[in-house]
Order: sequence, then structure tokens, then C-alpha cells
Amino acid sequence: MKWVENTIQNIKDTKTLVSLEDIRLSIFGKKGLITNEFIKLKELDGESKKERAKQINTSKQMLESALLEAKEKLTNLELEQKMNNEKIDTSLFKGNLSQTYGHPINITFDKIIDYFIGANFTISYGPLVEDDFHSFEALNLPKFHPARDMQDTFYFNDGMLLRPHTSPVQIRTMENKNLPIKIISPGAVFRRDYDITHSPMFHQVEGLVVDNGNGISFANLKHILEDFLKYMFGDIKIRFRSSFFPFTEPSAEVDISCIFCKGKGCRVCKNTGWLEVLGCGVVNNNVFNAVGLKDVSGYAFGLGVERFAMLLYEVNDLRSFFETDLRLLEQF
Ligand code: DAH
Repeated sequence: MKWVENTIQNIKDTKTLVSLEDIRLSIFGKKGLITNEFIKLKELDGESKKERAKQINTSKQMLESALLEAKEKLTNLELEQKMNNEKIDTSLFKGNLSQTYGHPINITFDKIIDYFIGANFTISYGPLVEDDFHSFEALNLPKFHPARDMQDTFYFNDGMLLRPHTSPVQIRTMENKNLPIKIISPGAVFRRDYDITHSPMFHQVEGLVVDNGNGISFANLKHILEDFLKYMFGDIKIRFRSSFFPFTEPSAEVDISCIFCKGKGCRVCKNTGWLEVLGCGVVNNNVFNAVGLKDVSGYAFGLGVERFAMLLYEVNDLRSFFETDLRLLEQF
């Protein structure tokens, strides 16, 4: 059968899977050449019919294997072409790529940490998963204190919890009894809160200074915080407002004159002219007792990093720090 050789050559020359399928149909389809050969077989008898059938079957097998081979070859070829066309040159510089240099929270952390490193503080870290003793008990937070409530703190089933403030690091540092202590402790904290000024995870920096004797006073605390806040916010007024924290006595909250209206009164400072920026105080004796320190004195403070970043960069929704929106992040 002459046409078989020609068709096999055609199969070999075919360049696409689509035209290969056309050829396959022209051979094996309803009106295909091989189909036709089998129909014509009916016209023959006896030995010649047998002989012819054998011939057709051999041709059929040859065509089938030629088709299979071509199909494999073309499939691989098309895949290779597809991969070549879709290849991305990652070494190609496209210019105009947006570049971000840091997250506003990290930049604020760095600025705060830089100040305290310059003032001879060292950095301490503590675990994010804490126990009740270090988070509350040793910090003189009584059993009925609202901060201990399930409403405010994330608890695990075994009584452990996600620390709701960085103050447990105070306790862990004092437990080592390596005086003098002069540390800050930056890190994440967790509370069951979510609105434009709260998120369930945020960051604080804790400060603690302790030494033997009664040399460390509120005056030392006031001095360093005033210097620090001027470093952070520039030319501002600062006031210490009497307040309460279980772990300090006396305690204060610190306000700075509103950096937006310069103290005249605006929406951000709720027309008071002042912005609250941190809490602080002289370490309560009950805290020293809890860690077994005697005849020592010290001060502590704690601040929220997001609060500082919101003021420094005029961001009014705290949650936007964690939304990874490039339109915000590109500005840093
Ligand atoms: N732990 C307090 C809070 O999360 C912040 C704080 C206030 C820390 C006064 C202190 C301090 O060390 O002296 O709200």
C-alpha cells in the first residue's frame, strides 16, 4: 500500500499536535483510509482476503506507532516552547520598582532603642508566652485586677497566657539579682482589643533601672524621660500627671504638648492641648519583695510603640500598620 509510506512521512513532517490529529482522523476516522481498507476487505474471499487483512493490520500498527512517536515528540516540543515563552528573567532590572526601607514600627523601635543605648541601657527580651506570676502576681496586680480578666488577656488552657505587657521582663531581670539593672525591653504584647487605636498584637518598650541603696529616685526618672521625649518629638512641653499602676508607687502618666496644634487644642488631643505618651513610676516595694530584693531602689516606665509611631508619622488608624498596604509602607 503506497499511501501508507507517504502518510508515515507526513506524520513525521507534521509540526503541530493539531495537524497531527487531522492526519490521525484521515486514517482512523469514520471515512479514514484504514477504515476504508477494512470495508474493501469484504469484497475479497479466501486466501487473498486473509493475505490482505494481514497487510492492513501491519500497516495499521506501523501508522499507530508513527502517530504515537510524533505525538510524544510534539508534546515535548510544545512544552519546551511554552516554558521558553513564559520564562521570567529575574536578573533583569525593570527600574521603577517600588522600594521600601523599613516598617514604621521598626523605624520607631530603632529610634527609641538608639536613645536608650546612648544612655547606657542594655536590651533584655522575655518570652511572649508567660505565666501568671511574672505577668501579674509579682507585679503586685491583685487577683481581682481587671487586666487578669479573660476579657482582656489571651489565656491558654494550661493557665499560661500571651503577655499583655512587657512588664514581666522586669520580674525576670530582677530575679537574676545582677545589680545594677539598667535595661529596656522592646517587644510584642497581646490584648483582646480591636479598634482604631488598638490591635490584638502591638508593641511596647519597658524600662527598668534598679540599684542597691536608696539612690534611685523619681528625679532620675523624670530627667531621663524628659530628655528622651525631647529626643523623640523635638521642641515640646512635658508634664508628669499623678496616676496609678500596681507595680509603681508613686506613679505618673506623662503627657507631651500636642505636636499637631502646639498645645492650642485640636481633634487629635481632644482639645486638651496634651497627648498622653507613657506610664512610669518608682518601683513598688511589693515588687522587690516578690523577687527577693532588699534595700534597693528603682524606677520603671512603659510605652506603646504604635502610639509613638502614630504621633511621629501622623497615622490615625493603628490597624493600618498591620495591613501591609504598600501605599502606606512605601512612604517610609
Ligand atoms: N505595663 C503598663 C501597661 O501595659 C505600662 C507601664 C506603666 C509600665 C508604668 C511600667 C510602668 O513599667 O512603670 O499599660
